[in-house]
Amino acid sequence: MTKVEEGMKVPKGLAGVSITDTKISKSEADGSLIYRGYPISEVASNAGFEETAFLILKGRLPTRTELGSFIQGLRERQNVGEKVFGIMRELGGGAHPIDVIRTSTSALGSIDREPDLDRKELSLESKMSVLAANCHRVPRGEAPRTPKAGLRFSDNLLQMLTPKEATDYERWVFERVLIFYMEHDMNASSFTVMVVASTLADPYAAASAGLASLKGPLHGGANEAAMEMLLKVKDPAKAPEFLAKSFKEGKKIMGFGHRVYKEFDPRARLCKEYLHEILKKRGDDALFRLSDAIEKEMWEKKRIPPNLDFYAAPIFYSLGIEVPLYTPIFAASRIFGWMAHYNEQVEENKLIRPDSTYVGPSGLKYVPIDKRTG
Ligand code: ACO
Repeated sequence: MTKVEEGMKVPKGLAGVSITDTKISKSEADGSLIYRGYPISEVASNAGFEETAFLILKGRLPTRTELGSFIQGLRERQNVGEKVFGIMRELGGGAHPIDVIRTSTSALGSIDREPDLDRKELSLESKMSVLAANCHRVPRGEAPRTPKAGLRFSDNLLQMLTPKEATDYERWVFERVLIFYMEHDMNASSFTVMVVASTLADPYAAASAGLASLKGPLHGGANEAAMEMLLKVKDPAKAPEFLAKSFKEGKKIMGFGHRVYKEFDPRARLCKEYLHEILKKRGDDALFRLSDAIEKEMWEKKRIPPNLDFYAAPIFYSLGIEVPLYTPIFAASRIFGWMAHYNEQVEENKLIRPDSTYVGPSGLKYVPIDKRTG
């Protein structure tokens, strides 16, 4: 560990600064990503969502019995309760879906009666998907959609998000996208969760703060913005003109760029294949050709690759999911990663309390209000 000197400065945005040791996951500039030691491609080809969640949380793959009781623990806690749906209704149709989930998560902190940390976390992990599926419809006065008994986590979330029937392959893809969204070493929302955990506040408080951080378009909000862009551009031939105009106006292209991946994001690469396959099977790959045209133009003009959000968005769209639900889906999955970071922080806790360099004035003399000019 580097010795910290008094007043030592770090780069803006903490870029390249390691703020902790972690055993949860690691991404590298060369496009590699590991979950608890397993390459993401290995996880995506073999594991289910719940199995991956157990791996992320506990640090190893579960036995059959452990997986069974983890799934059972999640299923027993799916009922968010009428009180929370009532709060969602009170917020009304104009509320942003992530604000609705954040407020509901915060309310759960006061309503949930789970006796210990493990069960509080399990409750949050289970209920987040129900909040995600209902955060757009319930405030608009629609009836809540609830989980169905016996379904896998990802199938249950999908059936709550959209009435559209998915094929086996589409359901498999949706589960992969959830696995990709579950965890990503250090990032704005996980860091936020760690900061709150370091004060020893409860996991509901930490998850509410994580949701606040996830909302922004530079983080989780990018998948919705990417889809809105695809719907606006419509025609692959218009991609160069659209991007040139955006560059001229100094706008960032949502779903592109990453703090770590500079060549490619392995999750985006896999999602691109899945999107192509879904659309080929349907005999209409127009949305794939449009996405591909924007990716090619971005690379040619800026050498910036797409991130997970850019290819997750058209997958969700193809599955019939409404755009305002894309960031909530991210939250329904990332809650498992957040709780892994929460636990890692509290297990060897040290209050996160950095320093800052004061660059403002000093020694000013107070002027009474009636003597102030201007
Ligand atoms: N569109 C256009 N230019 C970009 C983009 C983009 N999407 N991303 C980076 N750049 C440019 C910047 O303008 C900057 O150029 P400059 O050096 O000429 O000023 C340079 O690349 C470096 O960009 P930074 O924003 O400083 O790099 P950083 O590592 O901080 O950014 C980030 C990472 C925030 C993800 C950025 O790429 C971005 O804003 N992308 C769009 C939002 C997005 O897709 N977020 C999702 C992240 S992944 C996730 O949450 C799953």
